Amino acid sequence: MAEQTKELKLPNHIAIILDGNGRWAKAKGMPRSYGHIVGCDNLEKMCDIMADMGIRYLTVYAFSTENWKRSADEIKVLMDLFRKYLKRCERKAERNHMRVKIIGDTSALEPDIQESIRELEGMSAGYDRMFFQIALNYGGRDEIERAVTRLADDVRAGKIPEGRIRGDVFEQYLDTAGIPDPDLLIRTSGEMRLSNFLLWQLAYTEFYFTDTAWPDFHKPDLMKAIEKYNSRDRRYGNAK
Ligand code: FPP
Repeated sequence: MAEQTKELKLPNHIAIILDGNGRWAKAKGMPRSYGHIVGCDNLEKMCDIMADMGIRYLTVYAFSTENWKRSADEIKVLMDLFRKYLKRCERKAERNHMRVKIIGDTSALEPDIQESIRELEGMSAGYDRMFFQIALNYGGRDEIERAVTRLADDVRAGKIPEGRIRGDVFEQYLDTAGIPDPDLLIRTSGEMRLSNFLLWQLAYTEFYFTDTAWPDFHKPDLMKAIEKYNSRDRRYGNAK
């Protein structure tokens, strides 16, 4: 596998829609929460695998603006999981020399979660071997609305000249400012849609959909996705 990794061109930035935790657990006769716990463990493992392979950017969709419609019990399970995960992630940041950033509207999260986010982002701010973005209370349209609102404020304040706003100026107002667009998007568990993830940033990204549920997505599955990515004609490349 190591030989193969060497020959393959690695995507600079991989984005993942982590899907199928609930169905995976149900198929095993277990509660949905079990699927989220195993999904969370799998994300930790995947992060190390990608760091060891030399993937520079990883962005994952952990909780969408639409996920608030789930049952109160499931939201509580997920928030408790994020609480624990954000603490454990400090060790991962150290191990992988990884800068962690949370994207999304974090102002709607519980104050202690916001505090953990500040701590994690603060302690990892100096690392630059890998960049890990976790989308929490994230929606692509919401991100664009928030960006446009701040941009309009800056135009009104005279910080940005009036007239046509170029894409490179607009991008600086997105949660992902400074982060290159994903080269490869992976969505697990069979659905073939974007579900409001990185709407602006995925304009030129290659998509890879697999029926494998997130808790079952391991290194061989990742390699399959990267092989597929290599077999495609990237006419636009990173330069768009
Ligand atoms: C999809 O499963 C997953 C989520 C809604 C998000 C939760 C993700 C994790 C717990 C993975 C770990 C991530 C972090 C940052 C700790 P689903 O419930 O949509 O599954 P289903 O489509 O089968 O119902």
